[in-house]
Amino acid sequence: ESLEKGGFEYFMLKEIHEQSKTISDCMRGRMNAEEGWIHLGGLEEFSNKLLDAQRFIIAGCGTSWHAGLIGEYLFEDLARIPVEVEYASELRYRNPIISEKDVVIALSQSGETADTLAALELAKSKGAMIYGIVNSVGSSIARLTDAGSYIHAGPEIGVASTKAFTGQVTLLSMMALSLARKRGTISQTYFLQLLHELSYIPAKVERVLKNENKIKFIASEIKDSANALYLGRGYNFPVALEGALKLKEISYIHAEGYPAAEMKHGPIALIDEHMPVIVIATNRSAYDKIVSNIQEVKARNGYVIAIVTEGDETISQMADSVIEIPDTEEPLTPLLSVIPLQLLSYHIALMRGCNVDQPRNLAKSVTVE
Ligand code: G6P
Repeated sequence: ESLEKGGFEYFMLKEIHEQSKTISDCMRGRMNAEEGWIHLGGLEEFSNKLLDAQRFIIAGCGTSWHAGLIGEYLFEDLARIPVEVEYASELRYRNPIISEKDVVIALSQSGETADTLAALELAKSKGAMIYGIVNSVGSSIARLTDAGSYIHAGPEIGVASTKAFTGQVTLLSMMALSLARKRGTISQTYFLQLLHELSYIPAKVERVLKNENKIKFIASEIKDSANALYLGRGYNFPVALEGALKLKEISYIHAEGYPAAEMKHGPIALIDEHMPVIVIATNRSAYDKIVSNIQEVKARNGYVIAIVTEGDETISQMADSVIEIPDTEEPLTPLLSVIPLQLLSYHIALMRGCNVDQPRNLAKSVTVE
């Protein structure tokens, strides 16, 4: 087993460190930034159906549902396709309105999650086309879909999903870019810019991973907290949810993810010197708003850890700690901003003596309701 862990103490840490490679593997043979093309086999075959869809419904559970939320931002922003993101467990029991004009995109690492499988069967019976974004080759969900794309992340052993999440987001980004180009909803210049930026992501992930010692130090500062709040806006709102989930899952610290602007509608009441607030503050478009959110937290003595773009000086002076990530186009920031949050949870859990790979009460694949 220690051989399989490749010298890492836990599978989760190995899988976090593999992400530069797994993101490259996901893109390999499917796009070329220099030549300016994207080609996803499953999508090309059914591209008319996808282009004609009246809306996409993205279904998943847990971390896969968070990746789906990022998919919503990507498809709407770039390809201008209406999207709904659903917890598979809710979708299946809600008597949902689904027709043959809808495309349902299933997100699943294992391809065996019972609720996701049942939601797809229901959608299929209503005539919707089912597109799968799955990691496990030949899994039940992969077999049920009409078309799909594997993320090629390799086996994920740690119960808390890391490399599957970035694989799903990479795949969704490629899909959104491809559909945007076909629909003419983004310019050729912006398309090429995003394609180039996507191709630089693996190298930038490596750069984020180099901050591990700093993240370890921050982990030691907040490891005894009872609660933590994660804030993000836009593309980074789902990343805030995912950061909070990672912390809950493996360290047993209660954590909440919130859209930053919603803080004033509730969580702000909880902020005092015992509340670490992790703010993803890289968004170019909402930067000033995030700055004022940080001021609101500091005014109540909260301990602010900010994920910022390299070279940021404004937030670095306001926050208690900052973790820098390389700049990229906004739709691609989740692929970088989630990495420090994965490492932060890992090191906090380790310092608390938790079994990182097998947290209590959780299963890697939930094949029962
Ligand atoms: C479980 C796992 C999570 C995972 C979720 C969905 O809760 O512990 O890590 O995100 O199931 O699993 P799936 O295999 O469908 O992505």
